[in-house]
Amino acid sequence: TDPGRIRNFCIIAHIDHGKSTLADRMLQLTEVVDARQMRAQYLDRMDIERERGITIKSQAVRMPWTVREGDQRGEHAVLNMIDTPGHVDFTYEVSRSLAACEGAVLLVDAAQGIEAQTLANLYLALENDLHVIPVLNKIDLPAAQPEKFAEELAHLIGCDPDDCIRVSGKTGEGVPYLLDEIVRQFKPPVGDPAAPARAMIFDSVYDVYRGVVTYVRVIDGRIEARDRIKMMSTGATHELLEIGVISPEMQKADALGVGEVGYLITGVKDVRQSRVGDTVTNHGRPAADALGGYKDPKPMVYSGLYPIDGSDYPALREALDKLKLNDAALDYEPETSGALGFGFRCGFLGLLHLEIIRERLEREYNLDLISTAPNVVYRAVLDDGTEITVTNPSEYPTGKIAEVYEPVVRATVLTPNDYVGAVMELCQGRRGALQGMDYLSTDRVELRYTLPLAEIIFDFFDQLKSRTKGYASLDYEPSGEQRSDLVKVDILLHGEPVDAFSAIVHKDKAYNYGVNIAAKLRTLIPRQQYEVPIQAAIGSRVIARETIRAIRKDVLAKCYGGDISRKRKLLEKQKEGKKRMKMVGRVEVPQEAFIAALSTS
Ligand code: GTP
Repeated sequence: TDPGRIRNFCIIAHIDHGKSTLADRMLQLTEVVDARQMRAQYLDRMDIERERGITIKSQAVRMPWTVREGDQRGEHAVLNMIDTPGHVDFTYEVSRSLAACEGAVLLVDAAQGIEAQTLANLYLALENDLHVIPVLNKIDLPAAQPEKFAEELAHLIGCDPDDCIRVSGKTGEGVPYLLDEIVRQFKPPVGDPAAPARAMIFDSVYDVYRGVVTYVRVIDGRIEARDRIKMMSTGATHELLEIGVISPEMQKADALGVGEVGYLITGVKDVRQSRVGDTVTNHGRPAADALGGYKDPKPMVYSGLYPIDGSDYPALREALDKLKLNDAALDYEPETSGALGFGFRCGFLGLLHLEIIRERLEREYNLDLISTAPNVVYRAVLDDGTEITVTNPSEYPTGKIAEVYEPVVRATVLTPNDYVGAVMELCQGRRGALQGMDYLSTDRVELRYTLPLAEIIFDFFDQLKSRTKGYASLDYEPSGEQRSDLVKVDILLHGEPVDAFSAIVHKDKAYNYGVNIAAKLRTLIPRQQYEVPIQAAIGSRVIARETIRAIRKDVLAKCYGGDISRKRKLLEKQKEGKKRMKMVGRVEVPQEAFIAALSTS
């Protein structure tokens, strides 16, 4: 394809502002998908994506479009639309998708206005030098206020309110005009067709039948179907089995030239060999320099995963191995807990990532799991100068620590004016430091905070939503680390420390944390045959104590002499209740207790 006819673009938006719905309309209008095959959120291929209505992995589709109106009427263009994930955990994938484009459609819900991820995505687009077309979506809604939000958007981008295109992804209104404008406003890709091949990987997914499918955007040169390719970060070479474009399913091609977006299949079985951000070149005639931007995904949040039934351990390992094939960011290693037995310490990009992996393990691999409260990664410097990385609170060294550092994030909260006080109170309570505050319009405020990541992973988002009646939105990105005064709080059940309950908290909050968690555990752990004391301790100092009283009656006592089926029913019922219990020493502990820390504030 002549690069002059190509337009590579993405749609960026705050979550739920209608990106996937708009993408669906574009697929229909360009006749890439006909009405018969059409289903909602065509591009979200994973079950979990469909059920939750969110996009996790990016996808790319090639769509032919002939300009319908205006001065370029009749021009045949090839549009490559790259769908991007909308959630904070996957920001790195968004930024790679953006780097594969020349333009971005910035989609804003005309009933909601600008939100935190609208801003975050806009800044990412501008950093990547993309041309941005502002679009107001959902104009069919009675509550839509396109005039008001066009002002806001124009003010933000520095354009005229009339430049904001109005569409409805639901009815399709305005979408053909938007497609015309994409051809008119976005620049075609430029690259050197004679140079050695360089293509950027912006996504790679594992397919059970075909192995890893790698999505690339060619910058320079040409990749041909029979080439031997080389990954520039590792130097590994692979034979190409197939290359092609996606429209909307895979279609083989002979070659991909400058500016084209397509896929490669090499037969490798592990996405780690084909990583997002890496540069693909030709083995026989390699490029001198890689394209910028390759970054190893780094887990931000750790949690222990343990099978309830110890004999499921090998099955859990196998399941993790399989999931890892498709997820370069998932990290895990075996771990033994005194309380929970054999399991894995797993690293995730964030809480959503953790939840998705956990849900897939349970659903697709039929495993019953206990997961421990998530924690961040700490860096401790000991008195003798050695440095250690702590990914499990129970391994936090006591006593001999000189300094300890915790990760922090730069958070942006957008809120209506009325809730500024509530947001500030929340952020201050979470050890936040205010970095700046701006009025985006008369009633919408942007607050910028530096916050410890550990304070955000504990129900921060829920608190933010409930304190602002759902109006505030949040976005954050890692921003290095800070030195902090932290201590380890241990929990003892029946006098025995339970490693899976240990947590690292700020010194000033340790006492409250101990009292809260002990009280919480008392309500969560069922009464047993004997009294069970619960204690919270820092080192050897006990800071809180609660007692679970013993059960007096035997459940079966009531059925003495009764008929056997009734007895069996009662026992069955007890067993049901036990499903998610784990014996810790002599005490039965339910799953909820292990994540109790998540909601103690
Ligand atoms: P993520 O993939 O999670 O980032 O969400 P998204 O931005 O792709 O949003 P999605 O397309 O899933 O739309 C979110 C909700 O808004 C869905 O319930 C849609 O039906 C609805 N919606 C999307 N576009 C329109 C529109 O133009 N009009 C109306 N009335 N509703 C819309």
